[in-house]
Amino acid sequence: MPRMDGVATPVEARHRALLEALPDLLLRLGADGTYLELGGDLSRLANPPELVVGANVHDLLPADVAESLMEGVAAALSSDELATVNYRLQTHLGDLRDFELRIAPAAPGEVLAIVRDVTDLHDAIREVRESRARIVAAGDAERRRIERNLHDGAQQRLVAVSLHLHLIRQRLEGRPEAVPELLDAAQSELALALEEIRELVRGLHPRILTDHGLARAIRMLAERSLLPIEIAALPEERLGPSVEAAAYYVIAEALANAAKHAQAGLITVGVEALATHTVVEVADDGVGGADPSGTGLQGLADRVAALGGSFAVSSVPGAGTAVRAELPA
Ligand SMILES: Nc1ncnc2c1ncn2[C@@H]1O[C@H](COP(=O)(O)OP(=O)(O)OP(=O)(O)O)[C@@H](O)[C@H]1O
Ligand SMILES: [Mg+2]
Repeated sequence: MPRMDGVATPVEARHRALLEALPDLLLRLGADGTYLELGGDLSRLANPPELVVGANVHDLLPADVAESLMEGVAAALSSDELATVNYRLQTHLGDLRDFELRIAPAAPGEVLAIVRDVTDLHDAIREVRESRARIVAAGDAERRRIERNLHDGAQQRLVAVSLHLHLIRQRLEGRPEAVPELLDAAQSELALALEEIRELVRGLHPRILTDHGLARAIRMLAERSLLPIEIAALPEERLGPSVEAAAYYVIAEALANAAKHAQAGLITVGVEALATHTVVEVADDGVGGADPSGTGLQGLADRVAALGGSFAVSSVPGAGTAVRAELPA
């Protein structure tokens, strides 16, 4: 009971402090849906707090939300156990949020409801699901690319070589003078098949990265670039294979983007290996306006997220583009 002189007793003060420290919104509700008391984070309310106590959920909440809330209240009261209800609601501050309510019977005809904002959790779960689907799709697309390249390239050339060998065998019996020309043709088909396989393998995973590490691989990318590249920093020591691969692909894609889209005069590349993480940065002085949801950039974001790192693209139109990844060691 509150004291008549309005001064809180120590128990009341503790009770109040506990409510105020709660990260959730706390509601005490009557069996008919009347709000009896509020506590905790009032920014989660659908209505301004001063309108709530004494009003009924049916008057304050959208019909479907009020209905599922009251189902939870009825379930908690009839079973004498905790009931859980989920809904999405616009708060009185204007944000659309996802809520999880835990409703516990508190007294005869009365429940306590803890209203937890689970929007960030839901967003994170959705993002993980979507990125998982994108990673699978990217894997499938890559397999199709390899299948097409092998089928249209090396496979056709090897078929041609086999045909040439067959002809050579026939000519050896009838027209041996035609054999050298057929051998030349077979040899050049083989050389082309080899070149195509080499090209394909290079695109899969650069050998130089596995054999010699990030610094050598990045210097080679820079040498092949048509645009001037300034290398600000590169760690000479070996990093973990997944960090090296992610750093390499971030840089390779950012360089390809700068060459394709930026009309840049200069690209700067930097990699810094710190104790806890590696920072990768590629910046160009081009037209800016990059779209982080494009397949290339989104693919990088997913690759970095899969390592638990962070990825950011800053690209103001007219002010160049900077791509930055932080990869946990
Ligand atoms: N450095 C940059 N400067 C200016 N615009 C860029 C830059 N990088 C990307 N963009 C813009 O952002 C879009 C998305 O880039 P992203 O790398 O995701 O896709 P893409 O390069 O078009 O295709 P992909 O990488 O899948 O071959 C690009 O289409 C381009 O319009
Ligand atoms: Mg791209």
